[in-house]
Amino acid sequence: MAKIIDGKAISAKIRQEIKIETEKLIREKRITPGLAVIIVGEDPASKVYVRNKRLACEGAGMYSVVHELPETTEEETLLRLIDKLNSDKKIHGILVQLPLPPHIDEGRVIESISPEKDVDAFHPVNVGKITLGSYDFLPCTPAGVMTLLEESGIEIGGRDCVVIGRSNIVGKPQALLLLEKNGTVTICHSKTKKLAEITRRADILVVAVGRPDFVNGEMVKEGAVVIDVGINRKADGKLTGDVDFASVEPKASYITPVPGGVGPMTITMLLKNTLTAATKYAEMTCR
Ligand code: GUN
Repeated sequence: MAKIIDGKAISAKIRQEIKIETEKLIREKRITPGLAVIIVGEDPASKVYVRNKRLACEGAGMYSVVHELPETTEEETLLRLIDKLNSDKKIHGILVQLPLPPHIDEGRVIESISPEKDVDAFHPVNVGKITLGSYDFLPCTPAGVMTLLEESGIEIGGRDCVVIGRSNIVGKPQALLLLEKNGTVTICHSKTKKLAEITRRADILVVAVGRPDFVNGEMVKEGAVVIDVGINRKADGKLTGDVDFASVEPKASYITPVPGGVGPMTITMLLKNTLTAATKYAEMTCR
């Protein structure tokens, strides 16, 4: 029987701490952390995420503004908006919800965000800093996973860590963060051969592939820590992860549920990054 890592409870605790820090920044420096979220198009999942981000900001006492742009928005229009937000003193964090419509160059958009306001930590400058091990922001989902491991007292140093997935948003930065904590890290992906042989060696297995029930009990070592980053919607509308909970849970020592595991932590880390950005801004301007 695995211990269930309660992402909702850990998230609530950290959000409370962030709220207190936010109130302190407002009281002492007269600066309210501000987040601007941009969404282009009508993707229903993205709309839910953006709404949740706005509500979380407001819950933490932060200022938030959402820019909803139509699917047909031209890249130049989006770049002009980002430029405006880059110099807006009320805004300390800018997040462009991904994916963007195919006619917009995602890389160009990400690079147009000022690195100091890049609360996703997707800008090449921030990616580079993370690679070198000295950074201001961490990407929200991998940072959320690291916090769940830490809060659960799970040791990483010297342990075999396997990450399935190599996206820029989760897999790659996740591997770097585990490496930074002295894990022995393997990254698996769609071209990996003998995947189950590799995953069965994992003391810590992080799954971020976006396919329901991709990992089953046969692929997991007895006593492994299993972190499920997947959020997939089933035909009946219910959410499910990338891990087949029913067959994996009896073998794991710790496991994250979906929903209620990694998901709530992603937004919590976004709040943390927005607070960090505002605090840095206060340090620069209030001397
Ligand atoms: N789409 C899915 N995850 C993310 C994320 O962490 N940030 C942004 N901006 N878009 C996403």
